[in-house]
Amino acid sequence: MGYLISFEGGEGSGKSTILKLLSESLKQKGYEVICTREPGGIDIAEQIRNVILDKKNVNMDAKTEALLYAAARRQHLVEKVIPQLERGSIVLCDRYIDSSLTYQGYARGLGMEDVFNINQFAIGKYMPDLTLYLDVSPKVGLSRIQKDDGREVNRLDLESLEFHEKVREGYHKLLEQYPKRIKQIDAERDIDMVFSDVLNVVINFINK
Ligand code: TYD
Repeated sequence: MGYLISFEGGEGSGKSTILKLLSESLKQKGYEVICTREPGGIDIAEQIRNVILDKKNVNMDAKTEALLYAAARRQHLVEKVIPQLERGSIVLCDRYIDSSLTYQGYARGLGMEDVFNINQFAIGKYMPDLTLYLDVSPKVGLSRIQKDDGREVNRLDLESLEFHEKVREGYHKLLEQYPKRIKQIDAERDIDMVFSDVLNVVINFINK
Protein backbone atom coordinates (compact mmCIF):
# COMPACT_ATOMS: atom_id res chain seq x y z
CA MET A 1 0.00 0.00 0.00
CA GLY A 2 1.24 3.50 -0.85
CA TYR A 3 0.50 6.72 1.00
CA LEU A 4 -2.29 9.20 0.53
CA ILE A 5 -0.97 12.69 1.24
CA SER A 6 -3.37 15.60 0.94
CA PHE A 7 -2.64 19.32 0.57
CA GLU A 8 -4.94 21.90 2.01
CA GLY A 9 -5.14 25.66 2.23
CA GLY A 10 -7.19 28.68 1.33
CA GLU A 11 -7.24 30.45 -2.02
CA GLY A 12 -3.80 31.56 -3.18
CA SER A 13 -1.92 29.45 -0.66
CA GLY A 14 0.37 28.14 -3.41
CA LYS A 15 -0.72 24.51 -3.19
CA SER A 16 -0.54 23.79 -6.88
CA THR A 17 3.00 25.20 -7.29
CA ILE A 18 4.22 23.32 -4.21
CA LEU A 19 2.62 20.11 -5.42
CA LYS A 20 4.37 20.33 -8.77
CA LEU A 21 7.76 20.94 -7.14
CA LEU A 22 7.20 18.17 -4.62
CA SER A 23 6.15 15.54 -7.10
CA GLU A 24 9.17 16.30 -9.32
CA SER A 25 11.50 16.15 -6.37
CA LEU A 26 10.09 12.85 -5.05
CA LYS A 27 10.25 11.31 -8.51
CA GLN A 28 13.91 12.32 -8.78
CA LYS A 29 14.53 10.55 -5.51
CA GLY A 30 13.08 7.42 -7.08
CA TYR A 31 9.61 7.31 -5.53
CA GLU A 32 6.52 6.31 -7.51
CA VAL A 33 4.38 9.44 -7.27
CA ILE A 34 1.16 10.65 -8.74
CA CYS A 35 -0.18 14.11 -8.32
CA THR A 36 -3.91 14.60 -8.54
CA ARG A 37 -6.77 16.85 -7.55
CA GLU A 38 -10.45 16.15 -7.41
CA PRO A 39 -12.09 15.58 -9.89
CA GLY A 40 -8.81 14.56 -11.50
CA GLY A 41 -9.88 14.01 -15.06
CA ILE A 42 -12.39 11.36 -14.00
CA ASP A 43 -15.32 11.94 -16.31
CA ILE A 44 -18.14 11.44 -13.81
CA ALA A 45 -16.38 13.50 -11.16
CA GLU A 46 -15.66 16.27 -13.72
CA GLN A 47 -19.34 16.46 -14.54
CA ILE A 48 -20.24 16.75 -10.87
CA ARG A 49 -17.65 19.46 -10.33
CA ASN A 50 -18.92 21.52 -13.28
CA VAL A 51 -22.29 21.69 -11.56
CA ILE A 52 -20.72 22.81 -8.27
CA LEU A 53 -18.49 25.53 -9.69
CA ASP A 54 -20.81 26.93 -12.36
CA LYS A 55 -21.28 30.64 -11.69
CA LYS A 56 -24.92 30.47 -12.68
CA ASN A 57 -25.79 28.03 -9.87
CA VAL A 58 -26.18 30.79 -7.28
CA ASN A 59 -29.18 28.96 -5.79
CA MET A 60 -27.25 25.89 -4.82
CA ASP A 61 -28.18 24.73 -1.34
CA ALA A 62 -25.22 24.22 0.99
CA LYS A 63 -26.10 20.57 1.70
CA THR A 64 -26.44 19.89 -2.02
CA GLU A 65 -22.97 21.33 -2.49
CA ALA A 66 -21.53 19.17 0.31
CA LEU A 67 -23.13 16.02 -1.09
CA LEU A 68 -21.84 16.78 -4.58
CA TYR A 69 -18.30 17.26 -3.30
CA ALA A 70 -18.52 13.96 -1.45
CA ALA A 71 -19.86 12.24 -4.58
CA ALA A 72 -17.09 13.63 -6.79
CA ARG A 73 -14.55 12.63 -4.13
CA ARG A 74 -15.85 9.05 -4.08
CA GLN A 75 -15.62 8.65 -7.84
CA HIS A 76 -12.11 10.10 -8.03
CA LEU A 77 -11.02 7.90 -5.12
CA VAL A 78 -12.33 4.70 -6.64
CA GLU A 79 -11.23 5.29 -10.21
CA LYS A 80 -7.90 6.95 -9.65
CA VAL A 81 -6.56 7.03 -6.09
CA ILE A 82 -7.21 3.49 -4.80
CA PRO A 83 -5.62 1.76 -7.83
CA GLN A 84 -2.49 3.88 -7.37
CA LEU A 85 -2.32 3.20 -3.62
CA GLU A 86 -2.64 -0.49 -4.34
CA ARG A 87 0.35 -0.27 -6.69
CA GLY A 88 2.32 1.26 -3.83
CA SER A 89 2.44 4.83 -5.17
CA ILE A 90 2.55 7.99 -3.14
CA VAL A 91 -0.61 9.87 -4.07
CA LEU A 92 -0.38 13.64 -3.63
CA CYS A 93 -3.88 15.06 -3.63
CA ASP A 94 -4.65 18.77 -3.99
CA ARG A 95 -7.57 19.12 -1.52
CA TYR A 96 -9.49 16.25 0.05
CA ILE A 97 -11.87 15.70 2.97
CA ASP A 98 -10.58 18.64 5.05
CA SER A 99 -11.66 21.07 2.31
CA SER A 100 -15.22 19.87 2.77
CA LEU A 101 -14.94 19.99 6.55
CA THR A 102 -13.86 23.61 6.53
CA TYR A 103 -15.61 25.07 3.45
CA GLN A 104 -18.94 23.27 3.82
CA GLY A 105 -18.86 22.21 7.47
CA TYR A 106 -17.46 25.33 9.05
CA ALA A 107 -17.59 28.31 6.67
CA ARG A 108 -21.04 27.45 5.26
CA GLY A 109 -22.16 26.41 8.73
CA LEU A 110 -23.35 22.87 8.00
CA GLY A 111 -21.38 21.54 10.95
CA MET A 112 -18.08 19.75 10.69
CA GLU A 113 -19.45 16.57 12.23
CA ASP A 114 -22.31 16.15 9.74
CA VAL A 115 -20.01 16.87 6.83
CA PHE A 116 -17.50 14.41 8.26
CA ASN A 117 -20.21 11.76 8.37
CA ILE A 118 -21.24 12.07 4.71
CA ASN A 119 -17.59 12.06 3.72
CA GLN A 120 -16.92 9.05 5.88
CA PHE A 121 -19.61 7.27 3.88
CA ALA A 122 -17.88 8.38 0.66
CA ILE A 123 -14.26 7.54 1.51
CA GLY A 124 -14.54 4.62 3.92
CA LYS A 125 -11.11 3.83 5.33
CA TYR A 126 -9.28 6.17 2.98
CA MET A 127 -8.50 9.03 5.33
CA PRO A 128 -5.28 10.82 4.36
CA ASP A 129 -2.15 9.34 5.91
CA LEU A 130 -0.68 12.82 6.11
CA THR A 131 -2.02 16.30 5.38
CA LEU A 132 -0.02 19.45 4.76
CA TYR A 133 -1.94 22.60 5.48
CA LEU A 134 -0.50 25.71 3.80
CA ASP A 135 -1.54 28.56 6.03
CA VAL A 136 -1.98 32.01 4.50
CA SER A 137 -4.16 34.93 5.52
CA PRO A 138 -7.01 35.53 3.06
CA LYS A 139 -5.74 39.05 2.37
CA VAL A 140 -2.40 37.74 1.13
CA GLY A 141 -3.93 34.72 -0.60
CA LEU A 142 -6.57 36.66 -2.48
CA SER A 143 -4.12 39.35 -3.56
CA ARG A 144 -1.90 36.61 -5.04
CA ILE A 145 -4.84 35.28 -7.05
CA GLN A 146 -5.74 38.72 -8.38
CA LYS A 147 -2.20 39.15 -9.68
CA ASP A 148 -2.29 35.80 -11.47
CA ASP A 149 -3.99 36.66 -14.78
CA GLY A 150 -3.90 33.11 -16.09
CA ARG A 151 -5.96 31.72 -13.26
CA GLU A 152 -9.63 31.15 -13.76
CA VAL A 153 -11.82 32.83 -11.14
CA ASN A 154 -14.47 30.38 -9.92
CA ARG A 155 -17.66 30.79 -7.94
CA LEU A 156 -15.92 30.24 -4.61
CA ASP A 157 -13.19 32.80 -5.31
CA LEU A 158 -15.96 35.37 -5.47
CA GLU A 159 -17.01 34.81 -1.86
CA SER A 160 -16.47 37.59 0.67
CA LEU A 161 -13.28 38.07 2.64
CA GLU A 162 -15.27 37.08 5.71
CA PHE A 163 -16.02 33.68 4.16
CA HIS A 164 -12.33 33.08 3.51
CA GLU A 165 -11.51 34.10 7.09
CA LYS A 166 -13.94 31.42 8.27
CA VAL A 167 -12.31 28.87 6.00
CA ARG A 168 -8.99 29.61 7.68
CA GLU A 169 -10.55 29.40 11.15
CA GLY A 170 -11.98 26.01 10.18
CA TYR A 171 -8.56 24.76 9.15
CA HIS A 172 -7.17 25.91 12.50
CA LYS A 173 -9.87 23.88 14.27
CA LEU A 174 -8.94 20.84 12.21
CA LEU A 175 -5.29 21.28 13.22
CA GLU A 176 -6.37 21.03 16.85
CA GLN A 177 -8.53 18.03 16.12
CA TYR A 178 -5.96 16.09 14.10
CA PRO A 179 -2.57 17.21 15.41
CA LYS A 180 -0.83 14.03 14.29
CA ARG A 181 -2.19 13.88 10.78
CA ILE A 182 -2.18 17.57 9.80
CA LYS A 183 1.02 19.60 9.67
CA GLN A 184 0.81 23.36 9.34
CA ILE A 185 3.22 25.19 7.04
CA ASP A 186 3.54 28.98 7.03
CA ALA A 187 2.78 29.75 3.39
CA GLU A 188 3.16 33.52 3.54
CA ARG A 189 6.89 33.14 3.03
CA ASP A 190 8.83 32.76 -0.23
CA ILE A 191 7.95 29.69 -2.19
CA ASP A 192 11.41 28.05 -1.76
CA MET A 193 11.13 28.27 2.03
CA VAL A 194 7.63 26.84 1.96
CA PHE A 195 8.77 24.08 -0.36
CA SER A 196 11.76 23.18 1.76
CA ASP A 197 9.53 22.73 4.83
CA VAL A 198 7.01 20.69 2.88
CA LEU A 199 9.71 18.40 1.50
CA ASN A 200 11.15 17.85 4.99
CA VAL A 201 7.80 16.92 6.48
CA VAL A 202 7.02 14.51 3.65
CA ILE A 203 10.43 12.84 3.62
CA ASN A 204 10.37 12.42 7.41
CA PHE A 205 6.94 10.86 7.17
CA ILE A 206 7.89 8.42 4.40
CA ASN A 207 11.08 7.36 6.18
CA LYS A 208 9.34 6.69 9.47
P1 TYD B 1 -9.95 25.15 -7.24
O1 TYD B 1 -10.00 25.80 -8.57
O2 TYD B 1 -9.47 23.77 -7.12
O3 TYD B 1 -9.22 26.09 -6.19
P2 TYD B 1 -7.83 25.93 -5.53
O4 TYD B 1 -6.83 26.17 -6.61
O5 TYD B 1 -7.88 26.99 -4.48
O6 TYD B 1 -7.76 24.55 -4.92
O7 TYD B 1 -11.41 25.29 -6.68
C1 TYD B 1 -11.81 24.53 -5.69
C2 TYD B 1 -12.75 25.33 -4.86
O8 TYD B 1 -13.65 24.43 -4.26
C3 TYD B 1 -12.03 26.04 -3.75
O9 TYD B 1 -12.59 27.31 -3.55
C4 TYD B 1 -12.33 25.19 -2.53
C5 TYD B 1 -13.62 24.56 -2.86
N1 TYD B 1 -13.86 23.22 -2.27
C6 TYD B 1 -14.84 23.06 -1.32
O10 TYD B 1 -15.53 24.02 -0.96
N2 TYD B 1 -15.06 21.82 -0.79
C7 TYD B 1 -14.35 20.73 -1.18
O11 TYD B 1 -14.58 19.62 -0.68
C8 TYD B 1 -13.32 20.92 -2.17
C9 TYD B 1 -12.50 19.77 -2.64
C10 TYD B 1 -13.11 22.17 -2.69
